[in-house]
Amino acid sequence: MAMIWSPKLALGIESVDREHQQLVVLINELDAAIKSGKGNQVVGGAVDRLSSYTVMHFGREEKLFAQHGYAESAAHKLEHKAFIDKVAEFKAGLERGRLGLSYSIMTYLEEWIQKHILTVDKKYVPFMQGKGVK
Ligand SMILES: [Fe+2]
Ligand SMILES: [Fe+2]
Repeated sequence: MAMIWSPKLALGIESVDREHQQLVVLINELDAAIKSGKGNQVVGGAVDRLSSYTVMHFGREEKLFAQHGYAESAAHKLEHKAFIDKVAEFKAGLERGRLGLSYSIMTYLEEWIQKHILTVDKKYVPFMQGKGVK
């Protein structure tokens, strides 16, 4: 199942939307790598790209929280950590050669991203817009 970027995922903060769009691209690349049957090395590369981009994006959001004193920062950061842990678990599974596991984790990642954007990220939008974040 590939993930589709849709306007309903756009939150109205351009810099954030651009990064979310890129996250969807990287999730789809990972999905395609798994389906290509090219094996763990190709899939591993796609996991690494998703993982580093995610760390960068979460870091940027968390920096905004700190800069502007966002009250729900702690709970939001815990959500980010859960995702990063899941990606690490995915990578560890791959290294043990358990590609079959990837299908269920793929579904988890896709669902998590959509839900996170539409509920948890969405919450900070009015606050950040009030602070002039674009
Ligand atoms: Fe986000
Ligand atoms: Fe977030």
